[in-house]
Amino acid sequence: MQFLLKIVTWKGIAYTIAVGSIVYGLKKYFGGGVCYCTARLDGQVVVITGGNSGIGKALAVELVNRGATIVLACRNIEKGLEAKKHILSKNRKAKIFVKHLDLCSFSSIVKFCDTLNLEFNEIYGLVNNAGIFYHPYGITEDGFEVTLQTNYLGPFILTHHLLKPLKQSIHARIINVASDEHRRVSINQLIAISRTQKDFKGHFVNYGASKLALVLFTKELAKKLQNTNVIVNAVDPGNVETAIYRNFYPLSNPVLYALQWIIRVVLVKTPTEGCQTLLHALLTPNRTTGQYYADCKLALPSPVAADERICREYYQLTLEVLASWFSTESEC
Ligand SMILES: NC(=O)c1ccc[n+]([C@@H]2O[C@H](COP(=O)([O-])OP(=O)(O)OC[C@H]3O[C@@H](n4cnc5c(N)ncnc54)[C@H](OP(=O)(O)O)[C@@H]3O)[C@@H](O)[C@H]2O)c1
Repeated sequence: MQFLLKIVTWKGIAYTIAVGSIVYGLKKYFGGGVCYCTARLDGQVVVITGGNSGIGKALAVELVNRGATIVLACRNIEKGLEAKKHILSKNRKAKIFVKHLDLCSFSSIVKFCDTLNLEFNEIYGLVNNAGIFYHPYGITEDGFEVTLQTNYLGPFILTHHLLKPLKQSIHARIINVASDEHRRVSINQLIAISRTQKDFKGHFVNYGASKLALVLFTKELAKKLQNTNVIVNAVDPGNVETAIYRNFYPLSNPVLYALQWIIRVVLVKTPTEGCQTLLHALLTPNRTTGQYYADCKLALPSPVAADERICREYYQLTLEVLASWFSTESEC
């Protein structure tokens, strides 16, 4: 009672307002940029890989509210249907298709693309969002280290197989969801991992390498598509509270997780905040291509990505690595 009386003094009120304002200011600051684009995508198809969870699911909610038809590309159909239910609970009129896609299997990717090519003449957006972080070491059925295939080689093949319906749309956009972690890896580390294909240099290095690969791919693909209607950009969503940290010990441990609660609430984005830059890159009237967005603004990626020769050579190396599965550039 005495404590309550103390708080209700002017001093107590002033402290409460001051602390509240600081927390609010920090939350706003770390919540990052907000997409203010008013463009609508009525009837336009957007494919979101990993759209059943986290940033991808939040993006789907934002896009159906702007009239888009969404394809949720999920490795687990049940999770996809759950996500569809969630999105429909937010917007009864949402048009959503759930399709199976496992980026760890090239045959699954090709099957997924064949289905989409049959069902949709035009695709406005492809969001290469699915990804894994701090995943236990493993080799996919195609013989590649699992993080490299999920985050980069899979999206590389997927993107090329969907270029036809993307080119048939009046305007089309490819968004590659990268990460700031791409800066912490050197090009030599990336090349070593890509050449050996099964190499594992540590959770952070392999994750960063897969994201650097995606940024280099963005630049080179943008160049190859420069005379088409398709633009391609990379996006850093920032730090977002999602299931991607499920294997990362400081967050997968329930006690440590609980202890960090207040830090996360203030400093880490919600999925809705995290999807804002993806949304911005999909809707902005600025049709520049081969760029990198962070916090709803154009930003500079790692200097490595500014080197056109490196982007070109790494694209060639990817084609060599994927020679048994993907032999042509003719789609570009
Ligand atoms: N969260 C962050 O702080 C952060 C920061 C920078 C970048 N990112 C990037 O943002 C993207 C989205 O991640 P998120 O944070 O929203 O994490 P998330 O909630 O775990 O979502 C990742 C999605 O990818 C899917 N996925 C994983 N492996 C797949 C595979 N082999 N085939 C098809 N789908 C697969 C997951 O499916 P399941 O649900 O079946 O596992 C899930 O739907 C990722 O590319 C991530 O690297 C996130």
